[in-house]
Amino acid sequence: MKFHIMTLFPEMVLDGLHTSIIGRAEEKGCISIEAVNIRDYTADRHKKVDDYTYGGGAGMLMQAQPVYDCWKAVCEKIDRQKGNAAKTRVVYVTPQGEVFHQKKAAELSKEEDLILLCGHYEGIDERVLEEIVTDYISIGDYVLTGGELAAMVMVDAIARLVPGVLHNDESAQTESHANGLLEYPQYSRPEIWHDKRVPEVLMSGHHANIEQWRQEQSLERTRLRRPELYEAYLLANPPKVTGKKGRSICSVLK
Ligand code: ADE
Repeated sequence: MKFHIMTLFPEMVLDGLHTSIIGRAEEKGCISIEAVNIRDYTADRHKKVDDYTYGGGAGMLMQAQPVYDCWKAVCEKIDRQKGNAAKTRVVYVTPQGEVFHQKKAAELSKEEDLILLCGHYEGIDERVLEEIVTDYISIGDYVLTGGELAAMVMVDAIARLVPGVLHNDESAQTESHANGLLEYPQYSRPEIWHDKRVPEVLMSGHHANIEQWRQEQSLERTRLRRPELYEAYLLANPPKVTGKKGRSICSVLK
């Protein structure tokens, strides 16, 4: 999968993403991350990319021309490599977008190429957004100084779902949010630490019991920490009635 990040701060994005697991995945060739400087495409001889907003108001706005020409250059590159630029999704990272979540990360990880557009100042001229953007995505209901950190968060979350990026693909299936629940607690050596013992069941070697304990912990943790996710999970997965008294796993947990 290839990420093409349109930004005014390419070093910031590349410095952040060329390390650790994502950096190694790039070296292995599972993904590629390219940051394209929007300023390189301005027609202004002083290299200006922003201007005042019509109608007044605080701050400057990124202009349509450099953003559009930068996008065209990225598309031409994709076309040269694969000839499918017209289909390439363009994500504008903005606090005005739908809130990013694991399902969206999984959906986007199936794309061959993905263009991310980072805004700055007070945003970007609406006319160019109308022409090139396919998805408006926010990483949460707060405002950052620019889109770069948001784009980095998204690239990290998407890239780790691309086959081959994580050593152990199974961990992406059991981790928090993969099935709509938070992950169960985990323990490593030593068996006792600060007088706290690792739960007995995990030492038993009984796989079915361990599985059931983890599922219960996962449900309970989600109920306590993220009640709205818990409710959504119960709606999508109505509890099966078990046992003679008809008590479900969920009523046991309450
Ligand atoms: N740019 C500024 N704030 C943002 C946010 N919360 N999500 C995505 N992009 C942003």
